[in-house]
Amino acid sequence: MSAAPAGATGPTGIELWGPVADAVDLRVPVEHRVPIAVVGAGAIVDVAHLPAYRAAGLEVVGIHDIDATRAEDVARRHGIDRVYGSLDEVLADERVQVIDVAVVATAQPDIVRAAVAAGKHLLCQKPFAPDVTTAEELRDLAEAAGVRVAVNQQLRFDEGIAVARAVAEAGWIGEPTALTVHVDIATDFGAWPWLLTSDRLEIAYHSIHYLDAIRSILGDPTSAYCAAGRRPGQAPAAETRTMTTLRFPSGASAGLHVNHENLGGDARAEFRLDGSEGSVRGELGMLLDYPHGRPDTVELFSRVVPTDGWVPFPVTRRWIPDAFAGPMKGLLRWIATGEPAPTSAADNVGTLRLVEALYASIASGRAEDVDR
Ligand SMILES: NC(=O)c1ccc[n+]([C@@H]2O[C@H](COP(=O)([O-])OP(=O)(O)OC[C@H]3O[C@@H](n4cnc5c(N)ncnc54)[C@H](O)[C@@H]3O)[C@@H](O)[C@H]2O)c1
Repeated sequence: MSAAPAGATGPTGIELWGPVADAVDLRVPVEHRVPIAVVGAGAIVDVAHLPAYRAAGLEVVGIHDIDATRAEDVARRHGIDRVYGSLDEVLADERVQVIDVAVVATAQPDIVRAAVAAGKHLLCQKPFAPDVTTAEELRDLAEAAGVRVAVNQQLRFDEGIAVARAVAEAGWIGEPTALTVHVDIATDFGAWPWLLTSDRLEIAYHSIHYLDAIRSILGDPTSAYCAAGRRPGQAPAAETRTMTTLRFPSGASAGLHVNHENLGGDARAEFRLDGSEGSVRGELGMLLDYPHGRPDTVELFSRVVPTDGWVPFPVTRRWIPDAFAGPMKGLLRWIATGEPAPTSAADNVGTLRLVEALYASIASGRAEDVDR
């Protein structure tokens, strides 16, 4: 992006945001679009993947789920022509260039291995793999086969977060110094029965979004500390509250306080990026009454532009479904141009290493180095 507009009285109205709006645009060029098949017809495909792809003008040619009734229902409601009876049928469909996977997390690696062997490009749901070793194996398999694999870490494309990143890249807040995320909500994990019994929950399935988004702005941290807890009487087996600090080579730091067992109804979902010359702050609207929620808010204070106090960005999109076009856009551009997707499998290994460092820190009670 170009540097900030010059002048003591820089643009203050809608013209201020033109370059940022361009940087967060999620439209997919027509020449990058290829036929997609979806594996998994669960809740997130229904409410997020398919609406986002339709809005982006992408063609979904078929869908498969081991629960055929579910696949047929989703296909009918979203106007998808073909329901595949098996993964083999998906792999045998020569029209399909990209497979979009969204199944229970434990089932994903075997699907990736089979699809890579069949030469299909892939967009995988988060978490990409249950551990770093498996993620590295899948990354290496794809690279050896010349197949592109990206991960659906879409929070970094959510409009509020993407604006914060674009503002930082433009130099409008000077040198980034700290990023904080404060989420205090009531999450009904009963919507995902397999998560209720999982021995990992908050970090592996939820905060992984914040960790990936933070990496997209501040890069990879060197060390991480996390304290985790449960609410006595809660339904899920694993952690539902985490308090995390991250330290970065630049001297910047990040802090996350995330709680899913807020009984009080006073939901909070805020982020803030501070720099030497300004700040960006906002709310993740989707979490305030999930899954419908409301649009994000995001505001800039900058001594570089300069702004007259806090200036709001005109948010027009939501995390669900709109941000789901972001990882797919990056994958399709990678296939068309060779420019690696921002959320490539190789990049995602960094997010999974951070997840591992946090669980190691919970176990040790100490800050842990983040493997690179
Ligand atoms: N913001 C996000 O990115 C986000 C949000 C929710 C869920 N997720 C992830 O998306 C994935 C799916 O979540 P969901 O909410 O749709 O879950 P869900 O339980 O509603 O649906 C999962 C579907 O996968 C199907 N399935 C399981 N194994 C399969 C296999 N081997 N082949 C084909 N289909 C199979 C199931 O029958 C089910 O229909 C999970 O990995 C979850 O972590 C991501």
